[in-house]
Amino acid sequence: MEMLGLVPKFGLGTFRLKDQVVTDSVRMALELGYRAIDTAQGYGNEAEIGKVLGESGLSRDALFITTKIMPANYGRDRLVPSLRESVQKLGLDAVDLTLIHWPAPKGEVKPQEYLTALAEARDLGLTKQIGVSNFTIQGLKQAREILGDVPIVTNQVEIHPYLQNRALVDFAKKEGLHLTSYMTLAVGKVMNDEVMQDIARQHQATPAQVALAWALAQGHSVIPSSTRRENLESNLKALDLKLSEEDMVRIATLDRDERIANPPQLAPDWD
Ligand SMILES: NC(=O)c1ccc[n+]([C@@H]2O[C@H](COP(=O)([O-])OP(=O)(O)OC[C@H]3O[C@@H](n4cnc5c(N)ncnc54)[C@H](OP(=O)(O)O)[C@@H]3O)[C@@H](O)[C@H]2O)c1
Repeated sequence: MEMLGLVPKFGLGTFRLKDQVVTDSVRMALELGYRAIDTAQGYGNEAEIGKVLGESGLSRDALFITTKIMPANYGRDRLVPSLRESVQKLGLDAVDLTLIHWPAPKGEVKPQEYLTALAEARDLGLTKQIGVSNFTIQGLKQAREILGDVPIVTNQVEIHPYLQNRALVDFAKKEGLHLTSYMTLAVGKVMNDEVMQDIARQHQATPAQVALAWALAQGHSVIPSSTRRENLESNLKALDLKLSEEDMVRIATLDRDERIANPPQLAPDWD
């Protein structure tokens, strides 16, 4: 598995996928060579994923499983037991990475409380590494202060050609913080973009591959999702696509601050 620091370069997303759909998607992905799977307590699919992992015959070491704590479980008394439950649903002894899914539902549980509980879960061996998701620059600075020596191995955030998240990307680069791009395909929208289509044509690639290669070229990990074997297969080939400087400049012009994941009850004041 190709890694970027402590995080795999390429994984499979599973948001929105449930029951037989998630079972089929994860099974096909494993057959095609995916080894990193991104889930969350809030996705309601950990048990189905666990079943596929168990049936896959793959060794534990070959896999990298990420889950995320949902806001209802941020309290000190809830976080560790909830992760224990996730680990059990996934059929594992420990997950590889656990993220705080959103910074906080407006102030209900303080970062000090849930980040300390997350570090405790790591000490207990329920998760090998910890990280965050949807954190702003300010939130990251605060999280680092709270966690001290315990590394935040990634901040998983929305990054795609229409939301390039420049301030956060620049900060992360300067501070040596790893980012994982989610919704890299803008949930399918990049496929209809003329610039992306044109660049894809020049490389005999797909717009999805171009978006993924663009994120990878900036040093981010990616976790695209798909329910179709042909898309799962071709997306993975983005690892071999090298974009030119000119391609990168053209894609940079597509930024239009178009945020897709923005739940009002959870979203922070974005950068
Ligand atoms: N931390 C967070 O708060 C957060 C928020 C959102 C997402 N995520 C994670 O990031 C993952 C990725 O985001 P996402 O799944 O929302 O969106 P995405 O990966 O940007 O896009 C997935 C959509 O694109 C389509 N697609 C995939 N490959 C394609 C291809 N080659 N050609 C044409 N269409 C293609 C899929 O349809 P088909 O099924 O038809 O291929 C699906 O509708 C999630 O699954 C989740 O694990 C995290």
